[in-house]
Amino acid sequence: MFLFLSAILCDSLVCILVSDSPVQILGLGVGINYGQIANNLPSPSRVSYLLRSLNISRVKLYDADPNVLVAFSNTNVDFIIGLGNEYLQNMTDPIKAQNWVLQRVQPHLPQTRITSITVGNEVFKTNDHQLWSYLLLAMQTVYNTLVDLGLDKQVTVTTAHSLDILSVSYPPSAGAFRQDLGEYLHAILNFHAQIKSPFLINAYPYFAYKDKPNEVPLDYVLFQPNQGTVDPITNLIYDNMLYAQVDAVYSAIKAMGHTDIEVRVSETGWPSKGDENEVGATPENAGLYNENLLKRIEEKQGTPGKPNVPIDIYVFALFNENLKPGPASERNYGLYYPDGTPVYNIGVQGYLPELVYSSPGTKNALSVSSALLILVFAYLISA
Ligand SMILES: *[C@@H]1O[C@H](CO)[C@@H](O)[C@H](O)[C@H]1NC(C)=O
Ligand SMILES: *[C@@H]1O[C@H](CO)[C@@H](O)[C@H](O)[C@H]1NC(C)=O
Repeated sequence: MFLFLSAILCDSLVCILVSDSPVQILGLGVGINYGQIANNLPSPSRVSYLLRSLNISRVKLYDADPNVLVAFSNTNVDFIIGLGNEYLQNMTDPIKAQNWVLQRVQPHLPQTRITSITVGNEVFKTNDHQLWSYLLLAMQTVYNTLVDLGLDKQVTVTTAHSLDILSVSYPPSAGAFRQDLGEYLHAILNFHAQIKSPFLINAYPYFAYKDKPNEVPLDYVLFQPNQGTVDPITNLIYDNMLYAQVDAVYSAIKAMGHTDIEVRVSETGWPSKGDENEVGATPENAGLYNENLLKRIEEKQGTPGKPNVPIDIYVFALFNENLKPGPASERNYGLYYPDGTPVYNIGVQGYLPELVYSSPGTKNALSVSSALLILVFAYLISA
């Protein structure tokens, strides 16, 4: 199927003319992480166009950037927004939590579809034990605020963990949480069960491959055809590492007495470039990882342990982020360069409108509208 789009996008300074351009539509059920640690990214209104051309309707932010949330108002895009770790202490205070929700969340509802707030990101990856102890209380306080404001049915509360919270990840049936996190995670799991919110993990088979390229088969981590591994306890066959990681988390949760919490993948991805010692960080591998992952998402696959629960995944990330610290791979997880060209081909073509026109006269003519006027003529031509 191809979608032909013509559009004129105008904001206060510029108009964007988009001529008929064929865009392949895959109807992706995938979500995407829209990280913004960069100084060269396109404006949120252009990004909203790119995402709609990709038919991506689930986006995860690391903050509650009002520029993004406003640019996506009256779109069908669902947002997970984030409270950074630096907010946790304040969010344990009901007054500050309420102020944050009133100022950063409520004004965008319902015209922007905010469905979830992640309170903190990979908190247990830090060695800040005080932060660990704030996490649950901050989640509870933000949740209670949503209840008070009558927003808890539309916006849920969770947090995202790195896989470092596991002490055992293989075989999946033996998955277990680190002992030093036991009391924290036990209480957090009870909270998830109580409010029926998902348990989020950031899972990167790439890290396992990079650390042991001679032991971890590349095909197994890239979802390529391979003989897979068998869990000796359940006899379930795993043909890729990501599913094994997800099921290991399910096992760890079960070991704490819960079978009532869904595990979702809030981040996964593969870098297209890395430092010399970052084995496997190539555009070919990144392309295979993401293309194969998208196919499985489209097929609504579940993991071997949860075959009836389609994997729920947010790919990391939309753009390469040039200001991210750390090894070169950190700045090269994007599906797109900031100019909207794809870093590699994953069988999906998106469209980032060019800025082609700028005129003060246009500004006056169009200032009757609010900040952004979008005219989209979409003709769907089915195959
Ligand atoms: C976009 O994707 C959704 C599923 O996420 C699908 O139902 C819809 O038909 C797709 N739209 C187009 C134009 O392909
Ligand atoms: C936390 O609250 C204090 C006091 O109101 C404020 O000064 C500080 O900026 C807040 N921290 C964050 C990260 O918002």
